[in-house]
Amino acid sequence: MGDVVRAPWNGYFVTGFDTCSQVLRGRNWLAPDLAWQERQDDSKQWDAIATREMTTTLARLNAPEHTCQRRSLGNLFDRSTIERLAPGVERDTDRLLDELAEKLRWGEADFVSTVSEQLPVSTVGSWLGIPPEDYPHILEITHNQVFAQELLPTKSQLAVSAEATLALRAYFTELVARRRAEPRHDVLTGWIHTWDAMEPDREKADEILYRLTMFVTIASLETTATLLTSMAHLLTEPTRWAWLRQYPEHIDAAVDEVLRYDPPIHINTRIAAEDTVLAGVPIKKDSMIHVLYGAANHDPRRNADPGGFDILRGGSHLTFGGGVHYCLGAALAKLEARTLLARMLDRFPTLRTVTPPQYAPRMVFRRITSLGVAL
Ligand code: HEM
Repeated sequence: MGDVVRAPWNGYFVTGFDTCSQVLRGRNWLAPDLAWQERQDDSKQWDAIATREMTTTLARLNAPEHTCQRRSLGNLFDRSTIERLAPGVERDTDRLLDELAEKLRWGEADFVSTVSEQLPVSTVGSWLGIPPEDYPHILEITHNQVFAQELLPTKSQLAVSAEATLALRAYFTELVARRRAEPRHDVLTGWIHTWDAMEPDREKADEILYRLTMFVTIASLETTATLLTSMAHLLTEPTRWAWLRQYPEHIDAAVDEVLRYDPPIHINTRIAAEDTVLAGVPIKKDSMIHVLYGAANHDPRRNADPGGFDILRGGSHLTFGGGVHYCLGAALAKLEARTLLARMLDRFPTLRTVTPPQYAPRMVFRRITSLGVAL
């Protein structure tokens, strides 16, 4: 249908790889922030608590606030941080795979609840100093909050999301307050010092700290879980599994092909900063531009035979976005994926999918609720 396709509202879907990349990286395309929402005739549709709360998070800010908040976090997962985190991720992976092995002794096991939802929450949880007994609560409220980030949430979904939003606010405000009272040598204490030096108003600093901590956590959970499940599903096909066991040097390429083939986030929205033309289509200022990551990754002009799953294709993908909002956790997600894959190949040479993945009915954030595996 073309690189830029009209949506049935004041927006366009963008499908081609180069055009999506242009939108993500271009200065003319902004995140849909609060100011944009307030300019809309139907601004009431953004009034739901959960939607408003999400509009104040990092991904929905523009310069100068975005630049300032993003800089305050620095390069979260540079090489040395990843090296420091790796042994903990390996330990957690081994523990979860012990649990999987135990279940597999009796037949089929659910990969999602046993492994792929647990590894991201223990990784980000231990990095941020979230007590492990809180992980189930964090997972539940994250799943419920996501409705507000869907393209067309229903009223009842927004109600579920509102409750989750309040729970997230209560939880992360309290986490920041506790860390203030008892500082540690950890990442959250570091952010508190940074914001205390930058923002004289303590209440304002704490509000930003809550938003950053909450958003980094929720941005890391479902996305990484979906990657880990898709990886188990796509790679345990018997010939691929046997081949990867023989050539483990291609583990990184296998993770990238999973990311290209089925991205955990399917849609990201930007706004036209002014009247412009995109791939030959005139676009009015303030129109919504929905970047379709999956379509971009499957653009045959960029990745030949895009429907084929080919570990050695050396393809490209936009799964972590691009430009100033490029995903801050890409290196961490990849660390989890390659650690898990290496350990699984080693421990479960005959692992296979026995019940297909069940997908939650979502458009923006893919979520797989179960995947049956057996030996
Ligand atoms: C497979 C896993 C993941 C995927 C597919 C993913 C994907 C994305 C995408 C598409 C964006 C938006 C980029 C854009 O607008 O151009 C994003 C932003 C972001 N991601 Fe990730 N992400 C993943 C894991 C993580 C993890 C593990 C963390 C943190 C520990 C994280 C933290 C963030 C943050 C903070 C942003 C907002 C950046 C900004 O607006 O400046 N993500 N991610």
